[in-house]
Amino acid sequence: MTEQIRIIDAKDHVNEEVRIGAWLTDKRSSGKIAFLQLRDGSAFFQGVVLKNKVDEAVFQVAKDMKQETSMWLTGEIHEDSRSHFGYEIEVHDIEIIGNSEDYPITPKEHGIEFLLDHRHLWLRSKRQFAIQQIRNEMIRATYEFFNNEGFIKMDPPILTGSAPEGTTELFETEYFDKPAFLSQSGQLYAEAGAMAYGKVFTFGPVFRAEKSKTRRHLTEFWMIEPEMAFMHQAQSLEIQERYIAFLVQGVIDNCAYQLQLLDRDIETLKKYTKLPFPRIRYDEAIEMLQKAGFDVQWGDDFGSPEETYLSDQFEQPVFVLNYPKAIKPFYMLPEEGRDDTYVCADLLAPEGYGEIIGGSEREVDYDKLKAAIEAKGLDLDEYGWYLDLRKYGTVPHAGFGLGLERAITWICHLDHLREAIPFPRMINRLKP
Ligand code: 4AD
Ligand code: MG
Repeated sequence: MTEQIRIIDAKDHVNEEVRIGAWLTDKRSSGKIAFLQLRDGSAFFQGVVLKNKVDEAVFQVAKDMKQETSMWLTGEIHEDSRSHFGYEIEVHDIEIIGNSEDYPITPKEHGIEFLLDHRHLWLRSKRQFAIQQIRNEMIRATYEFFNNEGFIKMDPPILTGSAPEGTTELFETEYFDKPAFLSQSGQLYAEAGAMAYGKVFTFGPVFRAEKSKTRRHLTEFWMIEPEMAFMHQAQSLEIQERYIAFLVQGVIDNCAYQLQLLDRDIETLKKYTKLPFPRIRYDEAIEMLQKAGFDVQWGDDFGSPEETYLSDQFEQPVFVLNYPKAIKPFYMLPEEGRDDTYVCADLLAPEGYGEIIGGSEREVDYDKLKAAIEAKGLDLDEYGWYLDLRKYGTVPHAGFGLGLERAITWICHLDHLREAIPFPRMINRLKP
C-alpha cells in the first residue's frame, strides 16, 4: 500500500512512492511534460508529469484540468533545490475528485473588494495561507508562554451588561426583554479570575462598533488579556515584553517557510526579540512630537501619524507610559503625585504599526473605583459585582490586552488588519 502523506512531511519520504490529496493552483505544459502547481493545505509544491512515463490518459488529465480541481496523486517525492519548498513530486497517477470550472481568483491581480467578497476562496492563496499559519503559531505560542508562566486560561462571557472600554463603540443586542452588549473586552472578568486564581489570561473575540474605516480597526477581533494579582505595572511591562519577544521568536523558529512566502525579512524580526523594550512617558512623547512639528497638546490622544513617528524613533517596540486620565478608561490606577495621569502603557509596534497592546495597573480602592465609575456616567448596578472585587480582599493587580490581528499585521508586515483574520468584520462587511 502506498502511504498517504501531507507534502509538509516530504523530507521523510524522499524517493518513496506516496499518495497525496491536492488541489491545482496553476499549470504549464508542453508536448512532453506538464508542471502542476499544487497545494495540499500544508504547503505549495510542484508536480511533474512526464508523458513518456505515465499512461496517455493520465497525461491528458494533467493537461486538461483547471485551477482548483481536487485530486488524489500518486508519485515519487524528489528533492528540488530550485523551489521555495525544496521538494516536488514526480506524478505517476492522477485521480480527479472534484472538478473546478471558472475559479474566480485567477493568477492575475484582483481588486481588494473582489477578493474580500471571495474570502472563502481567497483563503486558499499563498499569502493568505502563510498569514493564517503564522496566526496559528502565535496562538500556539501564546498558550505555551502563559502556561509556562503559571497562568490559567479563563473564558469570559461574550454577552454582557458592562462597557469597560467606553460606551460609544458598543454593539447592542436583545437579551430576552433586556438590552445586552457584545463584549468589548474580557478584562473585568479577568480581574475576577485573577482574584480567584492569581494569574489568568483570556483569549476570545471582542466587538467594537468602530465607525471609522481605518487599516487598524476591525469590528470583531481577537484579544489576549492577561491579568495578574499581587503585581504592579513594572512587572506587567516585563511580562508584556517577554511575551512579545516569545511570539516573534516562535514565528522565526516555526514559520520560516511562511515568512519566505510573505517576503518578510527575518533579520528585522530578530531585532524584536532583544529585551528590554524602551520606555518613554506620555509627557516625553508629547515633547518629541512637538519638536518634530506635530500640532499636538498635552492631553491629546495619538492618531496613527503620531504613533508612527514615535515608533520610528526606536528599533524595537516602545512602551508609552502614563497617559492622561481623560483619554483612558475608568478602571486604571491614578499615578501617585499626579492628579492627571494613570499608571498605564500602550506598546507601539515598529514600522508604523501603532498600538498593539494597551494595559495598566488597576484601581484597587473601593470608594475611588466607585467614584470613577460614577464620573464616567456608567450604571452602578452593572458594576456592583466588579466593585465586590475591591470589597473582599483587594490586592494590587495589573493586566493588559494584545490585539491579535494588530500583532499579526505587524509580524507579517501586512498593510491592513483585514488579512490577519479569516473572515474580517468591518463597518461595511458582514459577508462571507
Ligand atoms: O487598548 P484596548 O482598548 O484595551 C483594552 O481593551 C483593555 N481592556 C486591555 C486590558 O488591559 N486588559 O485594546 C487592547 C488592544 C489594542 O492595543 C489593540 O491591539 C487591539 O486591542 N484593538 C483592536 N484591534 C483591532 N480592531 C480594533 N477595533 C481594536 N481596538 C483595539
Ligand atoms: Mg488602547
